[in-house]
Amino acid sequence: MEIDRPLEAPFSESIEFIRENLTRKTHDIAVVLGSGLGGFSAHLDDKESLATSDIPGYPRSTVVGHSGQIMSAQVARKKVLVFSGRVHYYESASTLNAAVTAIVSHALGIKTIVLTNAAGILNEAFYPGDLMLIKDQLNFTFRNILADMRFPLRNLQPIYSDAMAGRMYEAAERASVNLKGGTYVGLTGPSYETPAEVRMYRKLGGDAVGMSTVQEALYARATDMEVVGISCLTNYSTGITSEKLSHAEVTEIGARVDKKFSGLLTSFIGAL
Ligand code: HPA
Repeated sequence: MEIDRPLEAPFSESIEFIRENLTRKTHDIAVVLGSGLGGFSAHLDDKESLATSDIPGYPRSTVVGHSGQIMSAQVARKKVLVFSGRVHYYESASTLNAAVTAIVSHALGIKTIVLTNAAGILNEAFYPGDLMLIKDQLNFTFRNILADMRFPLRNLQPIYSDAMAGRMYEAAERASVNLKGGTYVGLTGPSYETPAEVRMYRKLGGDAVGMSTVQEALYARATDMEVVGISCLTNYSTGITSEKLSHAEVTEIGARVDKKFSGLLTSFIGAL
């Protein structure tokens, strides 16, 4: 069954504005930077920036550490569209707003998207500062953008591209990054998990937990993009240690892992 209306319709004004205001009309890849991971922006060459607050119809982010920029740039001689900062589901209770990065990327004809995020650790074999390739997701938001956009029933397995995962591991080897792998549990937030919830997610096979990514991944995969996910593990989830979790801790670790995070992404993009 075909979808009988343009998929980008909800953000058509934003998309038109972005198209008109960026010099590059095509990009090899889109990259979405999670909380505290905006440092990657320093590695962009020949950069053009749009503030999301200047884009008509674009949803607003209110979270500290999300600067709200869309950048078109070169990385390792590839053309990259970078979203620095995203809108979380809990900011507007809208899956469409939560996935605007993927909707815009698809509308601009981009075929591959790297979704990055800051996440809490569920798997005790992992440490704060580790990077984890997202192999699969547990969508504990119990929302699905594809239902909200009336997509027809279809099988999306695997959501995260095996081919791109292989390339990301190769990039990790070149960049001497010890890349972990695991299942990302996506929650709506904005409250952090309770210790009982953390015990449950662990039992169900979750390795990391966060409040983004799952809707973007669903939309991107459903529109035939290749999806890659990287979690920057910033903290042990509630109850694994006795430390009390704060957003400041999340952004601070993000800044500390910038070198290896940027090295990994640059190596991956350069080999596309
Ligand atoms: N839980 C949920 N989201 C997060 C966490 C966490 O522990 N850390 C960073 N984002």
